[in-house]
Amino acid sequence: MTYQQQYRHSIEQPEAFWREQAGQIAWYRQPDQILSQDEQGFFRWFPDGQLNTAYLALDWQIEQGRGDQPALIYDSPVTGTRRTDTYRELLDQVARFAGVLRRLGVGQGDAVIIYMPMIPQTIVAMLACARLGAIHSVVFGGFAPHELAVRIDDLQPKVILAASAGKERDRVIDYGTIINAALAEAVHAPSHCVMYQREVHRVDLQPGRDWDWDELAATAEPADCVPVLATDPLYVLYTSGTTGRPKGIVRDHGGHAVAMKFSMQNVYGVEPGEVFWAASDVGWVVGHSCIVYGPLIQGCTTVLYEGKPVRTPDAGAFWRVVAEHQVRSMFAAPTAIRAIKRDDPDGLRARDYDTGCLRYLFLAGERCDIATLQWAERVLGVPVIDHWWQTESGWPMISNMAGQELLPLRPGSATKPVCGYDIRILDREGRELPPNKEGAVVVRLPLPPGCLPNLWHNTERFRNAYLTEHPGYYSSGDGGYRDEDGYFYITGRMDDVINVAGHRLSTATMEEALASHPAVAECAVIGVEDALKGQVPVGFAVLKSNVTLDPEVLEAELIQRVRDQVGPVAALKHVILADRLPKTRSGKILRRTMRLMSEGKTWQLPSTIEDPSVLDELLSLLDSKGVSATNAT
Ligand code: COA
Ligand code: AMP
Repeated sequence: MTYQQQYRHSIEQPEAFWREQAGQIAWYRQPDQILSQDEQGFFRWFPDGQLNTAYLALDWQIEQGRGDQPALIYDSPVTGTRRTDTYRELLDQVARFAGVLRRLGVGQGDAVIIYMPMIPQTIVAMLACARLGAIHSVVFGGFAPHELAVRIDDLQPKVILAASAGKERDRVIDYGTIINAALAEAVHAPSHCVMYQREVHRVDLQPGRDWDWDELAATAEPADCVPVLATDPLYVLYTSGTTGRPKGIVRDHGGHAVAMKFSMQNVYGVEPGEVFWAASDVGWVVGHSCIVYGPLIQGCTTVLYEGKPVRTPDAGAFWRVVAEHQVRSMFAAPTAIRAIKRDDPDGLRARDYDTGCLRYLFLAGERCDIATLQWAERVLGVPVIDHWWQTESGWPMISNMAGQELLPLRPGSATKPVCGYDIRILDREGRELPPNKEGAVVVRLPLPPGCLPNLWHNTERFRNAYLTEHPGYYSSGDGGYRDEDGYFYITGRMDDVINVAGHRLSTATMEEALASHPAVAECAVIGVEDALKGQVPVGFAVLKSNVTLDPEVLEAELIQRVRDQVGPVAALKHVILADRLPKTRSGKILRRTMRLMSEGKTWQLPSTIEDPSVLDELLSLLDSKGVSATNAT
């Protein structure tokens, strides 16, 4: 069947389509019901099916003869370590660690926080939770203690699983200090912390609270898989929204497992037994779907890379991994490719390695500029596929479905909707827009399996954030348009969420950090274009009238405050101290105008502005700080 035929089938007969796909995985009880609505009116897939995701990722693969096949290749240039675990070896560790969790009282439906770096034990931890039917929530290592504490309080976990350290290119990050600070701040701190001691840095364990990972695992009884309902939660992953509080995206077992198998085969075009590599981090949705669950449920070998695209040790790092591990299909963030291009503009490093094994390079996580996409195509000589998805969807929403039929690529476009996603472009009034008109990118309900069924303990926010603006549709928060041939182009967020080096961050969270400084009366953070990171935040602060501190000292303090409260990934390097901020007559800060001014783009005087002279003040401030500015039209 062609892409077009498959796609139409998925939209016109979703239940028949997904029943067939559900048959591609193993169930303890096959679902009779494919799609239903729960008591709150939300759609749920496979409600009477029973399965276990860890079983699908490990035991089922071994039953199909993959016991001695590598499941996980850990490649860590930052520590100089390589290690391969077969499916059988990984299962052994997971079953034992599930035994550890069980001994600590973790059972089906209990929540567990995982604050760990890119090491095999993190994957063991995730799968061990899944094996017991416990709900994991991985928190990205680049977040500061406060962000970890916020997630702990929202999730209320029974246990926290941690490693003693993260390893960045040039420094060791002491996770012990971060965890102690987060647990001290959290109101709902769990009573147990299991710590994996890394050789790069060991931490002191707190008696009564902390347990040594290896010691517990050495004596643990392996635990069996616990059958769960398809609609039971597998994990919660926090992502940035428009407020300072992150949203806990819930993923269920059944829809997710079916979507993982389907997307690995049909989007990423990778067969069981082949090697798939996602150069991302397990703390993000791409890590969940494309490092852990997708590849393993598809019976692939997955690569866990603890390093950077450049300077670990050089711009050939990615191509070495591809050649050395015979990667067939890979994922990277456009930022990573831009970093490689910056250090190796002619792509000479790629010639040091035989990357002939590679079939496709997929890019997502942020908008990809055409020059970068074409550069990668030239250097690698394979189709480079820009595709679009979100933490909320858990798997690609718009893509070239390379595993099904590779459509002609159109640079700048993420190609066409993936099977199951009925994507529309709407104006503010909810009317569908004709080709080439930009509007809100929405998905007609029901969303396909694998997408978020709700937010963690916050149905009202789920409804308000995603389902209210355009009734009958899921609002993605992104803007975009489609052309006459049905190719979609994503133009960017329509809200205050920004994307810094492929990391989705909330400007509101950074504003909260700035506002917490005693000298700040008012502030705003906006995302401005950046040649490497796509976007970077720029802060603006108005000080209280009695503040006499040296402005330079204050700026440094404010930058440090964001680093301490949000984390280093926020990459906030500029805070501009202003006498006042441009506002509408109703008091709304004119963020769009501020962004355009900061990007040196043409901007128009907003008709609703309270006092136009404030813009002149802002322009000269931006100019003096080296943040580019231009005149209004
Ligand atoms: N734990 C702790 N700190 C982390 C971290 C982690 N997991 N990840 C990043 N950081 C820190 C970095 O050390 C850096 O700290 P610094 O300000 O002290 O130098 C800061 O956060 C910013 O990091 P990063 O965004 O990685 O910037 P960089 O300048 O070091 O590297 C790139 C630039 C482009 C190489 C890098 O951003 C990159 O590899 N991006 C791709 C990201 C990606 O794959 N995203 C996929 C999401 S789907
Ligand atoms: P995350 O939830 O962290 O995966 O971030 C999702 C957001 O990243 C989307 O809402 C988009 O704003 C952006 N994004 C992801 N993929 C693309 C893409 N291919 N093109 C443009 N923006 C993208």
